[in-house]
Amino acid sequence: MILIKMGGSVISDKGKYKKFREETVRRIAGVLPKKELLLVHGGGSFGHVLAHKYRIREGYEKWKILGFSEIGRDMEELNLKILKILIEEKIPAVSIPPHALFLMGDEPNMDIFHFAVDLDFVPLTFGDIIFHRSKGIEICSGDYLMLHLAREFKPEKTIFLTDVDGIYDKDPGEPGAKLISVLERNVEPETSTKVKDVTGGIAYKIEIMREIARYSKVYVLNGFHPERMKKVLDGEETIGTVII
Ligand SMILES: Nc1ncnc2c1ncn2[C@@H]1O[C@H](COP(=O)(O)OP(=O)(O)OP(=O)(O)O)[C@@H](O)[C@H]1O
Ligand SMILES: [Mg+2]
Repeated sequence: MILIKMGGSVISDKGKYKKFREETVRRIAGVLPKKELLLVHGGGSFGHVLAHKYRIREGYEKWKILGFSEIGRDMEELNLKILKILIEEKIPAVSIPPHALFLMGDEPNMDIFHFAVDLDFVPLTFGDIIFHRSKGIEICSGDYLMLHLAREFKPEKTIFLTDVDGIYDKDPGEPGAKLISVLERNVEPETSTKVKDVTGGIAYKIEIMREIARYSKVYVLNGFHPERMKKVLDGEETIGTVII
């Protein structure tokens, strides 16, 4: 089993509300396996911009309800764009929207994922709006879903695609930042979030990846270079970060 997250920073331009990167997604889809695959995608500018504006992470307040619906609509729109491309590339993907699958605060139900995979489908889930047992409303991040899918399926390889070459020793936008090829679980690189990321950005992602590394080989790769992912899938060396 292979578990892959197409980061919102790759599939969209996080600086521009709802700017989809169609060609990039098509190129990624072109190198994906067609079965034994679990797919997650992030929100990028389809999710984070309005989630920030409506302060969804702070929980329910009456004035937010239309905003919450709008984010749900935008995420389904992004999801549909990706689903269409995957199917055009002959990947039998089936969309699984988290907000209709479980309540935040409960353990996500994995039965549907197992059922789909056993029938050779490729489940496609995504960072989403979600109802929360105590906060009322919340954002369910793609990284969180990655953690639960990794725990459940113990994939051979887990790949995070972002818009940079991997994990750096500091913000890759800063001069002198160096790519960390092998990141040991106990090492903590400097991070920063200049772009809008309501679910904790790279710092949260590193935390999640550390735990996933207990079950799976974890890679962070540049999604603008799908040939690198192809190499990882084929067991070859390439540019990126592996977490051990
Ligand atoms: N030390 C670091 N190493 C790698 N990336 C870093 C680091 N510090 C900050 N970043 C930034 O983190 C970003 C990736 O995380 P981010 O959460 O924004 O993307 P994503 O997970 O692909 O998006 P989404 O949450 O929408 O799925 C990169 O654009 C990068 O510039
Ligand atoms: Mg993120």
